[in-house]
Amino acid sequence: MLLMGAKMSTTVDPAHAAAFDSRADYTAAVEQIRAAARDYYSGSTLAMDDATYDALIARVAATEAASPEWTVAESPTETVGAGGGVVGDVPHTTPMLSLDNVFDAEGLTKWAARLDRILGRPAAGYTVEPKIDGLAISARYADGELTQVITRGDGRAGEDVTGQARRAVGLPHRLAEPVTLEIRGEVFMTEADFALANELRTGHGEPPFAHPRSAAAGTLRAVDRAYSAPLSFFAYAVHGLDPTAHLSHAGAMGYVASLGVATTAGSAAGMPMCATISEVVAAIESLDAGRLTLGFGVDGAVVKADAALDRDEAGSSSRAPRWGIAYKFPADTRTTTLLRIEVQVGRTGVITPVAVLEPVQISGVTVTSATLHNFDDLTRRNVRAGDTVFVRRAGDVIPEVTGAKLDERPDSSEPFAPPVECPRCGGEINRTQKRWRCTRGRACGAHESLAYYTARTSMDIEGLGDKIIDLLVRAGLVTDPADLYDLDVATLKPLDRMGDVSAGKLVASIQGSKAQPFSRVLTGLGLRMTGRSMSRRLARHFTTMDALLAATVEDLQTVEGVGPERAVTIAAELVELRPVIDKLAARGVNMAEPVDPGAAPTATGDIDGDAGAAVAPFRKPDGTSMTVVVTGSVPGLTRDEGNEAVERLGGKSSGSVSKRTDLVVVGDGAGSKAAKAEDLGVPVMPAERFADLLAAHTAGDTARVASLLEEALPAPA
Ligand code: IVH
Repeated sequence: MLLMGAKMSTTVDPAHAAAFDSRADYTAAVEQIRAAARDYYSGSTLAMDDATYDALIARVAATEAASPEWTVAESPTETVGAGGGVVGDVPHTTPMLSLDNVFDAEGLTKWAARLDRILGRPAAGYTVEPKIDGLAISARYADGELTQVITRGDGRAGEDVTGQARRAVGLPHRLAEPVTLEIRGEVFMTEADFALANELRTGHGEPPFAHPRSAAAGTLRAVDRAYSAPLSFFAYAVHGLDPTAHLSHAGAMGYVASLGVATTAGSAAGMPMCATISEVVAAIESLDAGRLTLGFGVDGAVVKADAALDRDEAGSSSRAPRWGIAYKFPADTRTTTLLRIEVQVGRTGVITPVAVLEPVQISGVTVTSATLHNFDDLTRRNVRAGDTVFVRRAGDVIPEVTGAKLDERPDSSEPFAPPVECPRCGGEINRTQKRWRCTRGRACGAHESLAYYTARTSMDIEGLGDKIIDLLVRAGLVTDPADLYDLDVATLKPLDRMGDVSAGKLVASIQGSKAQPFSRVLTGLGLRMTGRSMSRRLARHFTTMDALLAATVEDLQTVEGVGPERAVTIAAELVELRPVIDKLAARGVNMAEPVDPGAAPTATGDIDGDAGAAVAPFRKPDGTSMTVVVTGSVPGLTRDEGNEAVERLGGKSSGSVSKRTDLVVVGDGAGSKAAKAEDLGVPVMPAERFADLLAAHTAGDTARVASLLEEALPAPA
């Protein structure tokens, strides 16, 4: 769905771009593009994010179409490398061209139609491969030996980067056969190597790279560097094969792979063959869906006519081949305003600076906060509140701020003052390591996490109020929730001069909480970005802690309401909480969700999967959940239990009434929500009827369930 007619907020299709009104604005934009291109091809910093760059190019192209007389010589719309000026002096044997871009299925279809027109027949078939976010190079082999590696430069001549490129994984020094040919492809840095490169670089007192591409560019062109960051290579073209063999693109790439060279086709993304443009669209969607888990930057898909004859007949313009096209994905780095820097203290006492951002869309996700890693890094990256910053979201990682646009820094900005004491407990900070910690460690956040764990809406441990928690923490008896289960009467009695009876009661209620359902344990652990409702949903979906712990970020996203950002956070939280979870399990705390007696068991025990009214009354015929608001009191249930019941019945509980609400349960004391439901014409169910429905559902009385539903809901159209 992403592709068909989608309007990507991050890229601008030249056909829809606005031309500049004045020649001065046009030439200024050209200069900006050239400067950004220079940085793109050589620098270790990003001058402009990809989306802004593409948008500017699109406006320049639109201006040139509207006012051709303004067009500058060597316009960035015509030249390879956008006139970035990084040329080099080694001539290419055949020009290294660029690719034209499209941004949606419509653009792709137009490209295919044009290709068919040029050929005078439909193209025989297409390949779809990842567009690697790195730097194009040409690698020359003579008799199977790697002799020279050259950057693209201006497409006619490039720089000799043989020294560094020889280190790239995937580009062998010797081929499997003693052949003479030229292999073209992309040098890049994997996500893991990017992290390593920045460790190395900052360890040498240099500012970190802003992006894996600039890291690869900086490393490829580095001379006399004291450290060497790893590089990788994927081939996507080969020159110098016997033309009479008429090898298809897939055939040529298969041959290159057989020589021992890594190829885009052989990468985890693969290179599917497609007979039609709708198959191409499906292949691009599938690449887009999986690209964040590949471990290397993919900024689009490259679609190529596969047959040698089609490619020969289509030929190339001075800038780009007609047989291929780049389908650009939204950029993973964008710019936004850093509103403020907050300091967070984690469960183990780690103190981290976090950037609060003006919301920004990055590859389909709205990002509002990003990590700034640690205080050393923050100082090195020279980032301040009010700055325009680069924010990157890649793979399964939490978004990060990679740098600031220093030329746009407001005059009034002040450097960030790191905390002098722990912002949570006022304790001392241990600064001996990169990650600062509160010297009280886990005990720093113990009170907060214990109070959350024992709360009525979590494990509901009676008698364990704030005062006792405070005493337990101060006495060093408890630092995490699992320690509670080791308490006995003898330990508790002297604490608050408790009597045998009250100490006994407290121990009993602590021990009794072991039988609470898994959803409450999960709520009590307080994973970031999950509340009670989400914890219940997760518990019901996975049914056991073991299954939840085994879930991948993708598995987590199959739970309703869990998007990429939340899934990454939940996965990270589970890793951090693992020691406490294991401790709780070892003490016999229940880690399974009871299966609802009214729900037919499914493979995962997840009632969300069932569509029948008897199994999940609040499930619509299309399988989605009804949105139900409970307002006022329901006989026999607390407010939280009312919401829990909605979810047990297959619905989604919500706190506010809107046009999208499917049902409002109205009990005693209901106020404006009931009135709003009436105004909007949303169906209403009296609380007693809701209690009946719940009882009938639990008893498996399907006839009663059906009649109660029929009474409340309008008949389906
Ligand atoms: S084919 C004649 N295939 O994208 C040019 N290019 O925007 C043939 N790129 O200059 C290029 N991955 O640096 C091709 N799988 C891929 C690619 C790819 C990345 C780069 C390449 C090219 C640029 C065009």
